[in-house]
Amino acid sequence: MKATAKAHVNIALIKYWGKKDIELNLPLTSSLSFTLDKFYTKTTVHYKKELIEDQLYIDQRYITGPEYERVTKYLSKIRQMYNIPYYAMIESENYVPKKAGVASSSSAFAALALAATRAYGIDLSEKELSSLARLGSGSAARSIYGGFAFWNEGYDHLSSYAEPFNGFEDMAVLVCMVDDREKKISSRDAMLELTKNEENKNDWIENTNDFIEQIKEAFINDDFDTVGGIAESHAMLMHYYMQEDGIDYLTDQSFKIIDLTEKLRGQGFPVYATMDAGPNVKILTKKEYIKDVIGSYEKLAKVTVCYKGEGAKIIW
Ligand code: DP6
Repeated sequence: MKATAKAHVNIALIKYWGKKDIELNLPLTSSLSFTLDKFYTKTTVHYKKELIEDQLYIDQRYITGPEYERVTKYLSKIRQMYNIPYYAMIESENYVPKKAGVASSSSAFAALALAATRAYGIDLSEKELSSLARLGSGSAARSIYGGFAFWNEGYDHLSSYAEPFNGFEDMAVLVCMVDDREKKISSRDAMLELTKNEENKNDWIENTNDFIEQIKEAFINDDFDTVGGIAESHAMLMHYYMQEDGIDYLTDQSFKIIDLTEKLRGQGFPVYATMDAGPNVKILTKKEYIKDVIGSYEKLAKVTVCYKGEGAKIIW
């Protein structure tokens, strides 16, 4: 009745922003991501007959309050779906700064979905696991897979899942850490604002669907510059809508990194910036160019060089 799972963080090239169903975490659009090797979560779920409620430890700290509520509510859904009669002791370790816009909920809920099912001997397909992880956090649907993943928006629980997507084997991401403190507004709360404005919501859906068509074609043509360009434009578009809703995640330091990226591109290097719900900037590039560009980024931020990470797996 015990299992430990490991899942890696993913970074979206086409972002998930806004939901058509809050309870089921059904997104407004499909999205596309790349799973990173350096940032991950390890989670142990141990069902115990004697427990009268779940117990949660994150990074050796005993957790209560909203963070606990979110996890216990999620586990209760899993208990109900698979007839699991026990509460659990959950221990999670994050090898990633929490809530700093490096998408730690993606690795956290992917690892939790896998550990919580396997601990009770339930062996789900990757597709089922992806849908289950999505119920915990939308972006977690994509962390079930290594490398690139495409999350089909779907229209109900089982049709909204991610699957592996063929992409560049030599992809690299420079995670430029501007600030690793917890962000002020969670992506969960911030993205609800978009759906309050019908016109912005519809524009976002329409634009994102166009970007998806274009990026898929660029992948088929093995055209890294177009893929990177679309990813950067889509991130900018998301931040535009965030600002429309009065939410500003980017700082002067983020903009310095974005400006540097444009400058390096002018010098012929294939570097593209993408940002999530925080000030940190992730640079999409290819392995062979890292040595040429890393020094410039290191002058502005703490940089972690990431490559393709593995999909979620059981380690014990
Ligand atoms: C900006 O997956 O954290 O990182 O489904 O409410 O848990 P919930 O949201 P979450 O949002 C991630 C938003 C994003 C973009 C992305 O990863 O696609």
